[in-house]
Amino acid sequence: MNIIENIKDTKAEIKRLKGAGKSIGMVPTMGFLHEGHMSLVNKSVSENDVTVVSIFVNPTQFGPNEDLEAYPRDFDRDRDMLNKAGADIIFFPTPTDIYPENYLTTIKLTGVTENLCGLSRPGHFDGVSTIVCKLFNIMSPDRAYFGSKDYQQLQVIKSMVRDLNMDVEVIGMPIIREADGLALSSRNVYLKDEERGAALSLSKSFNLVESLIKDGERDAKAIRNKVIDFIHSHANTNVDYVELVHPEMISSLETIDGDFVLALAVKVGKARLIDNKYFTI
Ligand code: PAJ
Repeated sequence: MNIIENIKDTKAEIKRLKGAGKSIGMVPTMGFLHEGHMSLVNKSVSENDVTVVSIFVNPTQFGPNEDLEAYPRDFDRDRDMLNKAGADIIFFPTPTDIYPENYLTTIKLTGVTENLCGLSRPGHFDGVSTIVCKLFNIMSPDRAYFGSKDYQQLQVIKSMVRDLNMDVEVIGMPIIREADGLALSSRNVYLKDEERGAALSLSKSFNLVESLIKDGERDAKAIRNKVIDFIHSHANTNVDYVELVHPEMISSLETIDGDFVLALAVKVGKARLIDNKYFTI
């Protein structure tokens, strides 16, 4: 496995591999890898000649009062996991290589970024779309793998690739969960043992919605309020949002008349957790 820390060498190596007719799969990450990330890496390894994993805690997608400094990092552990999984290249750049002093450009999407995390984390998706565009330009991947854990992010990337005619196939992958239902996340390390039950209220609320829908409830507000009450019945929870949204537009629905995504963001102690579920009607 090749670890490359700068853009110039990465581009040269990718050019060499593409020249040799190799297909490139890429998995963008911020590191501190877990089985959710590894499901993407495994899929890429199985579908491409070469798999590149980027590890970069992207400063521009963090707000001023967010956890950029505290975000967990363990490069040695990540490297060992990726080596074992058969990844070929780790791209591990520095912030100044990615954003040099004369850096000027931001990619900004409308619509799909204007609800959920786009509302509660202003500028977050500008940071995400810009770094992912840059990573695509550096790596020229044939395929790129993203988790549905970050459902809105996946829709943002798909929209960017479509709108800007990018030559990459974006592949969305299912959410990997612990046995008790908690969606794997690098930020789960912030959870204290006694907050675990509260953290599980996110995935447990899916059953509640399932039964409401089954009973014929179609009023999104009624469903939303029941989910918020359920989550707040657990100690140390603070709902950021609970929304029933259109699966591609990410706009909030008033009445359920087709497939929708239930999307949640909840602060549990220090951890801000997100989760979602796609409901087929
Ligand atoms: P990060 O949070 O490290 O996630 C990297 C990828 O792993 C994303 O596509 C995310 O959806 C996926 N992932 C995380 N937890 C998952 C789980 N439990 N099951 C399946 N997939 C999971 O998302 C980012 O980094 C950044 O925003 C990035 C795209 C790298 C841009 O900086």
